Amino acid sequence: MLKEVTATRYITPLREGGSLPGLVEGDDLGTYVMKFRGAGQGRKTLVAEVVCGELARRLGFRMPRLVTIGLDPVLGLGEPEQQVQELLRSSGGANLGMDFLSGALGFDPLAFAVSPEEAGRIVWFDALINNVDRSWRNPNLLMHHGELWLIDHGATMIWHHNWPGVEKSVARPYDASDHALARFAPDVTAAAAALAPLVTEELLAEVTAEIPDAWLTDEPGFDTPDDLRRAYARPLLTRAADIHTRVTGIEEGK
Ligand SMILES: Nc1ncnc2c1ncn2[C@@H]1O[C@H](COP(=O)(O)OP(=O)(O)O)[C@@H](O)[C@H]1O
Ligand SMILES: [Mg+2]
Repeated sequence: MLKEVTATRYITPLREGGSLPGLVEGDDLGTYVMKFRGAGQGRKTLVAEVVCGELARRLGFRMPRLVTIGLDPVLGLGEPEQQVQELLRSSGGANLGMDFLSGALGFDPLAFAVSPEEAGRIVWFDALINNVDRSWRNPNLLMHHGELWLIDHGATMIWHHNWPGVEKSVARPYDASDHALARFAPDVTAAAAALAPLVTEELLAEVTAEIPDAWLTDEPGFDTPDDLRRAYARPLLTRAADIHTRVTGIEEGK
């Protein structure tokens, strides 16, 4: 289970993001980037963050630790900005928090070099989870102490927005032509050989067990949170087997 923290102070909004994540302080004195249940697509974005973030870390990627953050909507009362106030008010209960990497820089594909091996691993992973939000315009990669960290997996697994159409959606290719690392000759084949065997049913059960029950209730067609957890695991298992043969739009390096 993800560690549970309670927010004690709302510090500031993070302006770069589209979903208005905020910086908060927790009762463990940690500083967290908080993604609100009441924002945009709501719970599904948070579920995607947990599934893909926890999977990424277990596959060896650098990915900040995730926690759940309990929020007392009262915290919003003193906020001068109405947008922030409304977000806090509509996000009572469990939200998502991520360790804040202090001093991290946004990755700039023109300023940093990435090896074909590392680029291949990240492009392969994004193909697996169908990440449409790691473009050169908006890389969602951070440089921290000279190393690349993955963040922001809210816009992934598009199939979870339409479960009846899941099989068709999962079979689709992944277009990497806009990917932030497309220009680094990503060696997707080598990445698949190394990483695909690690994506097992057991690993996915462990990853999906991290999703809080509260974000898995009332999904049409699913009786229990565990049924929905299995539905999240299955497409990833299927895709791991051969998605590297369906990555388009890149010149592969060797
Ligand atoms: N763990 C983190 N440490 C430091 N900065 C972060 C972290 N997570 C996000 N940020 C900053 O906040 C911005 C918005 O976060 P992101 O997760 O991309 O949200 P959005 O879904 O709104 O795009 C990022 O582009 C980055 O600049
Ligand atoms: Mg982002």
